[in-house]
Amino acid sequence: EQIEKGGYDHFMLKEIYEQPSAILDTFRGRLLSNEGMIKLAGVEDNMKKFLAADRIIIVACGTSWHAGLVAEYIFEDLARIPVEVEYASEFRYRNPVITEKDIVIAISQSGETADTLAAIKLAKSKGAFVFGVCNVVGSTIARETDAGAYTHAGPEIGVASTKAFTTQITVLTLMALRLARAKGTMSSSEFRHHLIELETIPGKVEEALKSDAYVKTVAEIYKDSKNCLYLGRGFNFPVALEGALKLKEISYIHAEGYPAAEMKHGPIALIDEHMPVIVIATKMGHYDKVVSNIQEIKARKGKIIGIVTKGDTSVKELADHVIEVPETLECLTPLLTTIPLQLLSYHIAVMLEKNVDQPRNLAKSVTVE
Ligand code: G6P
Repeated sequence: EQIEKGGYDHFMLKEIYEQPSAILDTFRGRLLSNEGMIKLAGVEDNMKKFLAADRIIIVACGTSWHAGLVAEYIFEDLARIPVEVEYASEFRYRNPVITEKDIVIAISQSGETADTLAAIKLAKSKGAFVFGVCNVVGSTIARETDAGAYTHAGPEIGVASTKAFTTQITVLTLMALRLARAKGTMSSSEFRHHLIELETIPGKVEEALKSDAYVKTVAEIYKDSKNCLYLGRGFNFPVALEGALKLKEISYIHAEGYPAAEMKHGPIALIDEHMPVIVIATKMGHYDKVVSNIQEIKARKGKIIGIVTKGDTSVKELADHVIEVPETLECLTPLLTTIPLQLLSYHIAVMLEKNVDQPRNLAKSVTVE
């Protein structure tokens, strides 16, 4: 096992550090930036269906569901296709409206999750075209879907999903871009610009990983917290949910993710000097609004950990700690902002002496209801 961990203390840490190369593997043969093209066989072969689709319904569980939420923002923004994201366990039992003009995308690292599989079977029985985004090659979901695209993240052993999440977002981003180009919702220069920027992501993830030592010092300060709040807006709202899930899963600290602007409708009541609030505040469309959310937290003496774009000054003035990530296009920021959140939960769990790779009561793949 020590050999398999490749010198890292835990599989989770190894998998966090594998993300630059895992994303490169996801790109391989698909992101052809010299030719200004994206090629995804499963999409090319079914392009007519994708172009005729009224909407996309994404079904998934856990972390994969969070990747689906990020994809909703990206598909709608770039390809202008309406997207709904559903918990597979709810979808399968609520008599959903599905037609032959719907495309269902099932996202699953393991490809074995029982609820996701049942949702796929239901969608197929109603005549929808089902596309799988799986990591495990030859898994049940990969076989049951009509077409698909593998994430190629390599084996993920840690129960808390890390590289599977970022590679799922990568595949879904490639799909959204390919469809945007085919639908003409994006100009060729915009498309090229996105490809060039996407290509820089593995290097930028590498750079984001350099915050590790600093994140560890932040973890030391907050490891004994009873609660944590994670806030984000837009593309980074699902990242806030995922950050909170990671902390819950491996450190057993109660954490909640929220859209930053919804804070005033509830969570703000919880904020006092004992509440760490992790705010994703990268330079983006809603940056000023997030800064004013931070001011509201500060006024209530909450402790602020800002995830910011390199060189940020406004959040730095207000926050107790800031963790920088490199600048990129707004729709690609989740691939970078996720990294410090993974590291933060990892270090807290290690400091609390929890079983990081096999947290209590959780399974890597849930093959029962
Ligand atoms: C379990 C795992 C999670 C995972 C979820 C969905 O809860 O512990 O890490 O996100 O199942 O799994 P899947 O394999 O379908 O992505």
